[in-house]
Amino acid sequence: MTSRIQYNNPQQAEALGLPYHYEMVSDAKRVTPFKKAIQKVCKGKRVLESGAGSGILSILAAKAGAKKVYAVEIDPKVARFAEANIRKSGFQDRIKLIRKDIFKTTLEDLDDEKVDVVIAENLSTWQVTEPQIPILNYINKNLIKQDGARIPALIFNYVELAQSQYQFENAVEIRTHYFGFTGVKKPRILSKRQLFTTIDLRQQNSLRINRSIKIKIAREGTLNSLRLTSPLQVYDGINFESSDSLMPPVIIPLNKDVHVIKGDMIQLDIRYSYHTNWDAIRCRAKLIN
Ligand SMILES: C[S@@+](CC[C@H](N)C(=O)[O-])C[C@H]1O[C@@H](n2cnc3c(N)ncnc32)[C@H](O)[C@@H]1O
Repeated sequence: MTSRIQYNNPQQAEALGLPYHYEMVSDAKRVTPFKKAIQKVCKGKRVLESGAGSGILSILAAKAGAKKVYAVEIDPKVARFAEANIRKSGFQDRIKLIRKDIFKTTLEDLDDEKVDVVIAENLSTWQVTEPQIPILNYINKNLIKQDGARIPALIFNYVELAQSQYQFENAVEIRTHYFGFTGVKKPRILSKRQLFTTIDLRQQNSLRINRSIKIKIAREGTLNSLRLTSPLQVYDGINFESSDSLMPPVIIPLNKDVHVIKGDMIQLDIRYSYHTNWDAIRCRAKLIN
């Protein structure tokens, strides 16, 4: 589907239209945990949303009793869409739409007072393509009270060792990263799921990752790929695993195949920067028995 391909290609973000937002607002697996968190924390609070899109989460915050919601959206076309939805919701007095880049949003835009809650769904698997981390760094430094609530609060980046199929019908070979959308053939998993990084969105986080971990092989196979996932703690006790429109598993190829048996130890070296693209992630797997 075009919107999915574009979703994972931030260079084309401005070209995204309603199909992308339809996919996101209709995905109850994605919206429900955000709605629950919003209902838990927004009542009586001043709320900032980064990347309002259709306006759905800002409208839910107003519905939950937020005192004031500041909905920031960079894309003028999308902002017009949000504006229409906010008007239809009847909450236009409590939601201020700010047509700006979040990085250019100042306290002045927020009526000269830091907010109590930030909602930001600028997420992608392992934060590779979307700007969640730089955005939260900016908001933490400039726009939110120190003890304010972040929705989501924590991101857990996990990795599994995997065997993917890259040969099809003995005729075609495609060795690329791919998204584990519903219906896409699943890789064979060769290890337990292991935590790679935990990101606390209340803190300033470095934009570059360079880390090695060791993982034990649980079953024999050909190690040729890594399966990456990013479950969230949206808020205390409210969790999100993955959905087709938000952080599907991403399977990335290793540059060579390694035959492994149960009990083998693999050292994984991974280097990348947030808010780049999947071709820029560097991964190496080494047998270290
Ligand atoms: C993944 S969508 C989420 C939309 C909506 N919050 C939702 O949950 O349905 C992210 C939105 O953030 C906007 N966005 C991306 N970068 C931004 C920036 N630097 N400042 C403001 N908005 C931004 C995009 O245009 C897009 O509408």
